[in-house]
Amino acid sequence: MRAVVAGAAGFIGSHLVDRMLEMGWEVVGVDNLLTGSRANLAHLAGHPRFRLVEQDVCRPVEILGPVDRVLHLASAASPVDFSRFPVEILMAGTVGTRNLLELAAAKGARFLLASTSEVYGDPLVHPQPEDYRGNVDPTGPRGCYDEAKRCAEAFTMAYHRTRGVETRIVRIFNTYGPRTRVDDGRVVPNFVLQALRQQPLTVYGDGSQTRSLCYVDDLVSGLLAALESPEPMPFNLGTEQEITVLELARLVRQLSGSTSEITFRPLPPGDPLRRRPDLSRARTLLGWEPRVSLQEGLRRTLDHFRSVLS
Ligand SMILES: NC(=O)c1ccc[n+]([C@@H]2O[C@H](COP(=O)([O-])OP(=O)(O)OC[C@H]3O[C@@H](n4cnc5c(N)ncnc54)[C@H](O)[C@@H]3O)[C@@H](O)[C@H]2O)c1
Repeated sequence: MRAVVAGAAGFIGSHLVDRMLEMGWEVVGVDNLLTGSRANLAHLAGHPRFRLVEQDVCRPVEILGPVDRVLHLASAASPVDFSRFPVEILMAGTVGTRNLLELAAAKGARFLLASTSEVYGDPLVHPQPEDYRGNVDPTGPRGCYDEAKRCAEAFTMAYHRTRGVETRIVRIFNTYGPRTRVDDGRVVPNFVLQALRQQPLTVYGDGSQTRSLCYVDDLVSGLLAALESPEPMPFNLGTEQEITVLELARLVRQLSGSTSEITFRPLPPGDPLRRRPDLSRARTLLGWEPRVSLQEGLRRTLDHFRSVLS
């Protein structure tokens, strides 16, 4: 099996590459290093079945030789990126998606889009099943990301319906783990770094907003299960276990042994108050279930960040 992974140098992409190589696949990574890092792939230097092509997917992607799978994870994805790279995000979701679908069409490869729970926007339905159509503000601060992914899904279905490409779509909910960017700005790396540096843990709002957090190894298993399933319609992947942001801050503080205090700041505009996947579809059709507990996942994440900071 030979796969092209766009976004290979990123957090999720690099874990996915590791798993594919463990499975005996050959992998060509494509990444422009906008938010990813060569360090995430440093352990693969000289690997006989892996190479990285440094390229923007907004330019046509040409890969020599046969390709069986094309996976599109190439997009800046963290809220701090929405104000830094809105145009790049829109381009990766639209032009980048089209270019990777063209590659899949040319090679007769199966295509998988890494979409997001953000397609549901600030949801009015809880938990969110895949047929919920969302509550997105296209002109809001998160519009660049939400609408890019909605367009990417529409592109994917168009190639599926009219260009004969076998396609899969996964809507990823909050995922955390080792190799998350240090300046990612999302809640887990924020708390972990603040706890390890003995700085105050910053909670936005009163901390009663909830998150459901999926450990990256579980997510990678779900991506591969969706990729190899016969189902073209979207799958939610994440966890159903909800935790308030304040509870999470306390848990990180406890697991890290930190003495940091918890401080409160105003909630940023557009920050979702609650988001939780309905995983019935993935459970029934993929037989997939997240397995790593939040405590265990946070321990592994803390270990990683300790080694990065030391
Ligand atoms: N981490 C999450 O919780 C989460 C949640 C929902 C969806 N996702 C999706 O999963 C994918 C991976 O996310 P991540 O958290 O690993 O983010 P990341 O920023 O760590 O990885 C994205 C990778 O894509 C690369 N990239 C960005 N634009 C590119 C372009 N135009 N051409 C080539 N490479 C480009 C970046 O350099 C980076 O290596 C993204 O598509 C994201 O939307 C992630």
